Amino acid sequence: MNRRQNYRSVVASLIAFSLLVFSGNLVYAADINKLVKVCADCHGENGNSKIINSPSIAGMSTEYFMESMQDYAKNTRPVEKLKNKKKTMKDVVKKLSDADKVALAEYYGKQKFKPFKQDFDAGKAKAGKKVHRKYCDKCHTDGGASADDDAGILAGQPSGYLKYTLGNYASGKREMGEKMAKKFKKMKKKEGDAAIDNLVHYYASQQ
Ligand code: HEC
Ligand code: HEC
Repeated sequence: MNRRQNYRSVVASLIAFSLLVFSGNLVYAADINKLVKVCADCHGENGNSKIINSPSIAGMSTEYFMESMQDYAKNTRPVEKLKNKKKTMKDVVKKLSDADKVALAEYYGKQKFKPFKQDFDAGKAKAGKKVHRKYCDKCHTDGGASADDDAGILAGQPSGYLKYTLGNYASGKREMGEKMAKKFKKMKKKEGDAAIDNLVHYYASQQ
């Protein structure tokens, strides 16, 4: 464990502890095996997705995981219904207590992320790599593979999800931080609309 990870786990424990102390009836999380069974339906065993439109959540940092839970609960992040599924993430999160969310964040943080096996266009992936290095790698380090950035895992995510989530940012449906927005704007101006498609192929190519 390096110093940053150490700090991270102390912070995660503090969050967990304060939730347990201050939230009275939310002291106990539901059985973790029961909880993850629900998630596996869309996010796969141990959080490695088998569905091209659904993200893998294995190996995600606790911070990013909890932030996602909060965004869905507060309705500040768009949701989509997967083919043949009845629920969205909003419906899922509604049923979770704060203690459940912390337990799930810790569980998935410990699982190993496995890149999604998928086709990609090598030429587009090469162009996407250039774009990533120029506009994104500062915060999504290691080609978007590092969970320690607290900014999700991009490398090896299923391409349908990448297309969806990047499209939501590009159209303004999903909010992003000011600095990331600046880079997106600059990227659009300088590289044109093809940049997003090239990025999808680049992240998908990392297997
Ligand atoms: C019915 C399908 C479904 C179920 C069940 C489900 N999810 Fe999701 N989840 C999705 C989809 C689809 C997305 C991405 C698109 C969106 O935001 O709607 C997502 C996104 C997420 C994200 C954000 C991923 C990212 O890269 O930003 C997290 C975290 C997450 N889910 C956790 C969970 C957990 C934990 C459970 C179980 C308690 C769960 N999900 C159950 C469909 C589901
Ligand atoms: C200044 C730092 C910064 C820069 C630059 C940046 N991002 Fe992000 N990105 C973040 C953070 C932080 C998050 C976590 C969500 C949030 O805070 O909105 C994030 C989240 C994301 C996500 C969501 C991951 C998921 O699982 O759904 C995607 C996709 C993404 N960024 C793509 C990009 C791309 C592509 C670029 C370059 C054009 C970029 N980002 C540039 C900081 C940055």
